Amino acid sequence: MIDIHNHILPGLDDGAKDIETTIEYLKLIQESGVKKLVFTPHYMPGFYESTHKAVSSIFKDIMKIKDDYAPDVHFYHSAEVYLNGENIIDDIIKENLFINNSQYVLVENNLNGFTEDLYQLLYQMTRKGMKPILAHPERYQEIKENPIKADDFLQRDVYLQINTGSILGGYGKQVQDTAFELIDRGWVHFLGSDCHCRSMVYDFPEAVDAIRHEFDNKMAELLSQTFPEKMLNNEHLPHFYMVRKETPKKKSFLEKMLDFFGE
Ligand SMILES: [Fe+2]
Repeated sequence: MIDIHNHILPGLDDGAKDIETTIEYLKLIQESGVKKLVFTPHYMPGFYESTHKAVSSIFKDIMKIKDDYAPDVHFYHSAEVYLNGENIIDDIIKENLFINNSQYVLVENNLNGFTEDLYQLLYQMTRKGMKPILAHPERYQEIKENPIKADDFLQRDVYLQINTGSILGGYGKQVQDTAFELIDRGWVHFLGSDCHCRSMVYDFPEAVDAIRHEFDNKMAELLSQTFPEKMLNNEHLPHFYMVRKETPKKKSFLEKMLDFFGE
């Protein structure tokens, strides 16, 4: 299992507040069976300045102690980039906010309403060869109200990552239903814990089990292992990977009559 989204590095954003908290979560991750994990502190100019230098320095400190607490887990560091403002794309390049030096970048936007420049910024990213992954689409107001809107992102070559907490009902029924609908349509590529180290719970394996239960083993594997592994290796992933079986439209009385009379 691979977790590509969390806030477990200490003191950088609204995630783990100190190294002691990080250590407690390293132990939980070791027990969980997750074998690879990408630290993604918020990169949000003016709020969280998780520069490459700041993150690398903390990452090195964690690497020194990680074998004591999570010897079987391989760690990477990147960021969750708040996609807004004219300098943000230059920042992605300058600060190397790519996941494991691949073309993939984890991005987020305003949960209460997408900013006006979002689609333009995503377009610029893909024009430059970047592969944006939108974090937790199921939590955005527009998509909660109308999950079909998520198709807009796929059509624009954006990948989707849903949160484990959404699968398990942590953000409420509407978000949970949206997450399941997006998976059912074959529109989701990754699963992330988005763990902010607040509850002493690391729910990644529970969410994978829930996907296995609700869908099947194949889907659980795709989102938690196959796609993230390929992404870490900078391999290309299909935006659409499943043909959805539509239920055949019921025939009207007139159509049935025409069939009966051989028309
Ligand atoms: Fe996050």
